[in-house]
Amino acid sequence: MPRNIIDVTDLTVKEINELIDTAEDIAANPEKYREACRYKQLATLFFEPSTRTRLSFESAMLALGGSVLGFSEANSSSAAKGETVGDTIHTVSCYADIIAMRHPKEGAPYAAAQYTEVPIINAGDGGHNHPTQTLTDLLTIHREKGRLGGFTIGFCGDLKFGRTVHSLVNALCRYEDVNFVLISPLELKLPRYVKEEALKKRGIPYKQTDSLEAVMPDLDILYMTRVQRERFFNEEDYLRLKDSYILTPEKLERAKADLSILHPLPRVNEISVAVDKDPRAAYWKQVKNGKFIRMALILKLLDIQV
Ligand code: NCD
Repeated sequence: MPRNIIDVTDLTVKEINELIDTAEDIAANPEKYREACRYKQLATLFFEPSTRTRLSFESAMLALGGSVLGFSEANSSSAAKGETVGDTIHTVSCYADIIAMRHPKEGAPYAAAQYTEVPIINAGDGGHNHPTQTLTDLLTIHREKGRLGGFTIGFCGDLKFGRTVHSLVNALCRYEDVNFVLISPLELKLPRYVKEEALKKRGIPYKQTDSLEAVMPDLDILYMTRVQRERFFNEEDYLRLKDSYILTPEKLERAKADLSILHPLPRVNEISVAVDKDPRAAYWKQVKNGKFIRMALILKLLDIQV
């Protein structure tokens, strides 16, 4: 059976920590890995828009000496002719050694994995999960804080539809002494199933609030998110909620001096550009880390030792 990464819990904590070690080695010694995936092909099948995830996967494979193929919108694939996801995957697995797939429907990568022997990586499924963004986030937290655990993290914005939040909560609840602060408007709270499965089942305490200002001084990490317009049922609700939180230098005055600010990007309005200059802003470093950790993941799934 191939090894698929559909959910972040498909990896043990030990495996995640090993991926982080490999990513650190890749960042320090990129030349060592230049030929590691020679003659291997990665397919990126993106049925939904993407900049960072798709390009970081492609850039990762190219930096490993492999090659890439794929499509970046459903309209340019046979999905537009009515082909099923299963048949598309079956076809692509005749060409590629590993597949990264993004789809607007929750569970689509899991379904796709039933049609192939080639490893499938979930690159985001609807409002559900985004495990490789979580690996990126974990590497960033590890690099910024020097540890994974023993901190208070605030998730702010669209916790309902934000798949990166769901996966990161699922991952971090397996580490020691993480305090979760969930900051959102009432309508965009973290879904009950994530709270039940990740936090309540383990007896992990968490705080819910709609005020970022009130909790700002407590946070070691602030994970900002975009309000996910494409998942709303009506535009009016989106327009009402889209600017619920806008992080500005003024709001950061009450934050800890060693706060780390993360955002999976793209940002719309939720972090003012003036914050980019603040040394606590880690989101551009996060983009770079996404390439290193995806390189590590590709090597692992293809069972290549360097
Ligand atoms: C995120 C996603 O696609 O879920 N982006 C990303 O992959 N870096 C976050 C978002 O779109 O808001």
